[in-house]
Amino acid sequence: MAEQNLFEGLAGESRVFKNREKITPHYTPEKLPFREKQINEMVLALKSALTGQKADNIFLYGKTGTGKTACTRHVLAQLDEFIQKNGLAAKAIYLNCRNYNSKYKVLSTVVQDMYPDKDFIGYSGSFIYEKLTEFCSEKKLSAIIALDEIDKVKDLDDLVYALTRANDEIKKGAVSVIGISNMLTFKERLDPRTKSSLCEKELVFPPYNAQELMKILEARAKEAFKEGVVMDSAINLAAAIAAQESGDARTAVMLLLRAGEIAEKEGSAKISDKEVEKARKSVEEQIVFEMISTLPEQQQLVLLSIAKLTIEKKGVRKLKGEEEGILFSGEIFDEYKRIAASYKESPVSTRWFQQYINELEMYGLLSTTASGKGLRGNTRLIKLSMDPKEIRTTLEKQLNQ
Ligand SMILES: Nc1ncnc2c1ncn2[C@@H]1O[C@H](COP(=O)(O)OP(=O)(O)OP(=O)(O)O)[C@@H](O)[C@H]1O
Ligand SMILES: [Mg+2]
Repeated sequence: MAEQNLFEGLAGESRVFKNREKITPHYTPEKLPFREKQINEMVLALKSALTGQKADNIFLYGKTGTGKTACTRHVLAQLDEFIQKNGLAAKAIYLNCRNYNSKYKVLSTVVQDMYPDKDFIGYSGSFIYEKLTEFCSEKKLSAIIALDEIDKVKDLDDLVYALTRANDEIKKGAVSVIGISNMLTFKERLDPRTKSSLCEKELVFPPYNAQELMKILEARAKEAFKEGVVMDSAINLAAAIAAQESGDARTAVMLLLRAGEIAEKEGSAKISDKEVEKARKSVEEQIVFEMISTLPEQQQLVLLSIAKLTIEKKGVRKLKGEEEGILFSGEIFDEYKRIAASYKESPVSTRWFQQYINELEMYGLLSTTASGKGLRGNTRLIKLSMDPKEIRTTLEKQLNQ
């Protein structure tokens, strides 16, 4: 009997997916239930751009997976369509600052978008800035620059100042900013002047509850999967897990995607709570590692020093009644300063360092306890909650980019 070809059965149509793309996290759905208010507010803030005036600067914030990126992309796509259709002098540009993390990178990318036929590599910051004001002035154009994950911009105060100042130099036309962040303490860290320019209008994206996530998943599942494949129990469980963790729609969407892949691999044409349960671990891990790779660089350096000390068993000691893998915050700070220097970053003060530790704890990446009396005054004991080797690999890959 001839052996079965390795590709047998793979070229055929999926029994599970109708359109797999639509249940992937980067797909922007047409409808975004439970975000009507935020979308309307964005539209109102942007409407001045339609008449060549400056739109309000908007600051969007909320925890991960609450629809900030999806709503922004949706509104900007609608705006773009309207601008094209009516031949208006307005332009929307979306950037993720994870990839463009400095004033220079942001402005040169914006200007490149304005002059697609020219090449701006290697030009000075001031030349790029002039090109931006020149473009808006000549075309009497209102530009809207959406900066997603804006907390990643290293010289954000300078960037926001430059964009604000551009409005004084552009005679007709304007520049406005949509800033997006999921870092809860980020706004407090800004220079007061940056804060007041950036936050002319603020939009909060609260976490979704289980009921809302169920509705969101039902709609997305209908687009992505064949009829009758996804059982209600699967949707209920995925929504419940995501609501319990953080009200994050990305987790919910990924659980269903992964559950679909598991069903497909196992040759089943049904997705039940069993497949969702199986998907849970891999999704949770993936989400944590994605989160780690998008932390601000300084926090990554702090986390990397903890991972390294844990792996090298340096400074780790077994205290009475304590588990293994415990570090002193002072030792971490020393290691952090060394690592920061090796990446040519200047280390933050101890106060910020403590704040970073607090945030890393809030994200569930580590746990801390006060050392109690007798042990070096008020030092803290810190323990990593994740596999240190995986953390090190993820971070080194990110930091060496
Ligand atoms: N109201 C909604 N309806 C349908 N899908 C949604 C909704 N809100 C979010 N999603 C989906 O959830 C996923 C995460 O949303 P999004 O990327 O917008 O989150 P975010 O707030 O930008 O998170 P982060 O802060 O991590 O960048 C995406 O796949 C998105 O399409
Ligand atoms: Mg986002």
